[in-house]
Amino acid sequence: MSGSPVLQMKNICKSFPGVKALDNVSLNIYSGESMALLGENGAGKSTLMKILSGVYTKDSGEMIFKSKPHTPKDPKDAMNKGIAIIHQELNLIPELTVAENIFIGREPVNAFLKVKYSQMNAEAKRYLEQLGEKTSPTAKVSSLSVGQAQMVEIAKALSMNAEVIIMDEPTDALTDVETENLYKVIRSLKAEGKALVYISHKLSEVFDVCDRATILRDGTFVDEKPVSELDEEKIIQLMVGRPISDRYPKCDCKAGDVVFTAEGLTNSRITDVSFSIRSGEVVGIAGLMGSGRSEVAKSIFGEMPLKKGKISLAGKELRINHPSEAIKNGISYVSEDRKQLGLIIGMTIKENITLPALKKFQTALSKISFGREEEVSKEYIDMMSIKTTGPSQRVVDLSGGNQQKVAIAKGLVTAPKVLILDEPTRGVDVGAKKEIYEQINLLKAKGMSIILISSEMPEVIGMSDRILVMSAGRIAGEVSGAEATQENIMKLAISNIKNAV
Ligand SMILES: Nc1ncnc2c1ncn2[C@@H]1O[C@H](COP(=O)(O)OP(=O)(O)OP(=O)(O)O)[C@@H](O)[C@H]1O
Ligand SMILES: [Mg+2]
Repeated sequence: MSGSPVLQMKNICKSFPGVKALDNVSLNIYSGESMALLGENGAGKSTLMKILSGVYTKDSGEMIFKSKPHTPKDPKDAMNKGIAIIHQELNLIPELTVAENIFIGREPVNAFLKVKYSQMNAEAKRYLEQLGEKTSPTAKVSSLSVGQAQMVEIAKALSMNAEVIIMDEPTDALTDVETENLYKVIRSLKAEGKALVYISHKLSEVFDVCDRATILRDGTFVDEKPVSELDEEKIIQLMVGRPISDRYPKCDCKAGDVVFTAEGLTNSRITDVSFSIRSGEVVGIAGLMGSGRSEVAKSIFGEMPLKKGKISLAGKELRINHPSEAIKNGISYVSEDRKQLGLIIGMTIKENITLPALKKFQTALSKISFGREEEVSKEYIDMMSIKTTGPSQRVVDLSGGNQQKVAIAKGLVTAPKVLILDEPTRGVDVGAKKEIYEQINLLKAKGMSIILISSEMPEVIGMSDRILVMSAGRIAGEVSGAEATQENIMKLAISNIKNAV
């Protein structure tokens, strides 16, 4: 399309203690195009973009933006020069409103330096509408879903009117409709001549909105190619260095007796939800975002109070009013929102993994056995192939996909009987996804009962024995794994919505 790149990164190197995150990486970005930046978890994608947007400084290498050296002092400086980034991990302040978050540090003020709220709210609304979002600009961010918060981040980047816009896994928490709206915006940004960098583990998206792709592997540059010369298999080969067959591995295990039953679970978000699970069975929960999937999980786990309903495990009725009681009774929940509910990101991997099972690591004198803690964390790091310098690394310093693996390890450490996985492979690369599926199969073979909540249809279909489909807070139907298709799941997913209209 265009001739020379508007922005060039040349031979960028960056090390963190114990890891060379980037080793001589080069990247070209063109106006009017979207560049896919691809690679496995920990390949260095976010680090490269944080250098471009002034969050990190490079150790060596060169950046040229519009024919001039680009040496951003900090993110604000990069933004003023025309580079905006939508970070992988949301950066919003929950206690502020949507509009306050969008314009933070750039609020429109009057002559007396008072913030012009009505103007700010109106402008925020305009950017949200451009994205097809109905969220109110005066709503507190704490009241939003992860997907809505993600849209606010995107609106914030749009409001900066930048020339280069970096999107680090922007659709991670978006519904299909929101994703389509984002695509429309991306297309119009390209038509306006903006340059985009698009990071995603959903490979099909590359073909929807990207023109070229740059692939990294283990902190090194592998290739840059026009998307027209690539397909999913080729991308995987370049990313992983080998093809991946059989993306949804099967387990030949037989389900045992019913272990867990939920009867008539009802509260403000779900109505009359009843189902049971056998040992060694994976029950998927599908449905549109907002259909109540996660609310079922939270209600079982004691994070959301129940108005009515009964939960039983191994024939015994449980009264769960708090997550700690759920854990004590053998129910574990890996939340879809790893930052808010799943992990304490300022703490180490070791502390995070062992937190739910602290009792296990206490010696007779009630002191935590640090040696044992270390040993167990190492086992999980190996088992989940977590890319880290070791158990004492802080979770905040891991790549997004590796944080997700720590969240799963945390769910497993209490050796639960019932494991609820909510979007377990969000932000996880293709190879690591398969490793997680293999772990699911191993747990299943050991007799664990697993509830798998996911918006990735191929994942629920590929990994579940049965699928419950939720629609408007109710279970609209059930399909067996063998007869599940995207179409029959979708039909059920919208059934109660149609009825309600
Ligand atoms: N602040 C930091 N301190 C220490 N190590 C870091 C820091 N930021 C990143 N790293 C390390 O640098 C490497 C590259 O991480 P990066 O976040 O760039 O990966 P990524 O390609 O974005 O992966 P993902 O797809 O999982 O998001 C990883 O090994 C990560 O642990
Ligand atoms: Mg990343």
